[in-house]
Amino acid sequence: MRCSLLLVPALSASTWAAPAFPKVAAALAPNVQAISDYFNLLASKVQQNRVAGLAPICDLSKLSPPAEAEALGQPAPGLYLKHVAIGRGTQNYTCDLSNSTAIPQANGAVATLYNASCVTSAFPDVSAMLTRASLHFDVADNAALQRLAPADLPVSGTHYFTDLTTPFFGLDSSQWQLGEGKFGKNASTTAPLNAAKGKKGEAAVPWLRLTAKGSGNTGGLQEVWRLETVGGSAPATCKGMPASFEIQYSTQYWFYASS
Ligand SMILES: *[C@@H]1O[C@H](CO)[C@@H](O)[C@H](O)[C@H]1NC(C)=O
Ligand SMILES: *[C@@H]1O[C@H](CO)[C@@H](O)[C@H](O)[C@H]1NC(C)=O
Ligand SMILES: *[C@@H]1O[C@H](CO)[C@@H](O)[C@H](O)[C@H]1NC(C)=O
Ligand SMILES: *[C@@H]1O[C@H](CO)[C@@H](O)[C@H](O)[C@H]1NC(C)=O
Repeated sequence: MRCSLLLVPALSASTWAAPAFPKVAAALAPNVQAISDYFNLLASKVQQNRVAGLAPICDLSKLSPPAEAEALGQPAPGLYLKHVAIGRGTQNYTCDLSNSTAIPQANGAVATLYNASCVTSAFPDVSAMLTRASLHFDVADNAALQRLAPADLPVSGTHYFTDLTTPFFGLDSSQWQLGEGKFGKNASTTAPLNAAKGKKGEAAVPWLRLTAKGSGNTGGLQEVWRLETVGGSAPATCKGMPASFEIQYSTQYWFYASS
């Protein structure tokens, strides 16, 4: 049995087993810390909740962004938190190879979004730890399983850029139709000092507040907040880099909508 780390089924189940993801051992080797921290925290939550007999809660209405997001302001009045996804993918960059002092330029991003509404509302700390741990599992394995490793979160959407300054989010998956649309940058703040680094030590990309671009968004989607970023930053210079390259990242996207 593959035990769901959505916690909800896990907490209500009378047995607990480690999830059977194929590449766990391979992913563990170089990155034991992030992954073992995640499983340890998860195990302690499961234990606590089993003892307390708590019912799972999937209520996003009490959730607010972490204190470190203060510089991004507040979601516009009247909006509600509709969805939290963990995004796992790559940040793309280009380098001008004809320029010996060139610095990498952002060239969009592509990520798959996984439904983390429940786990984040119940256990924000587990969700943050999962965001960190997920960086160490291959995107290709997630795609094959249609689940986010090392948890068991189902796909809730996709993220890519329609042009250099227009991130697109589509939250229309087989299970949930939550809307889609284009956004633009409203505010940015550097990731906290203790943000987790990428696979090769890359700094975490900034935390962002994006607001709807144009009026074509569906599902009431008005704002997307990028929080709890892991990795994704380019090196400081283009020295030794190819003309285009990808840096692995994971993050949380919080979707605010008008009702
Ligand atoms: C998936 O997202 C929806 C909308 O945020 C939420 O109501 C639902 O509880 C989520 N499911 C899980 C398993 O997190
Ligand atoms: C080379 O890159 C540097 C750093 O981005 C930039 O300031 C400079 O204008 C570039 N030179 C040319 C010729 O593009
Ligand atoms: C950010 O969004 C707020 C609320 O919608 C708006 O008042 C402000 O002008 C926006 N700022 C920028 C730089 O887009
Ligand atoms: C960058 O992102 C696109 C998706 O928009 C992807 O297809 C492409 O292979 C990525 N990598 C590079 C190096 O361009």
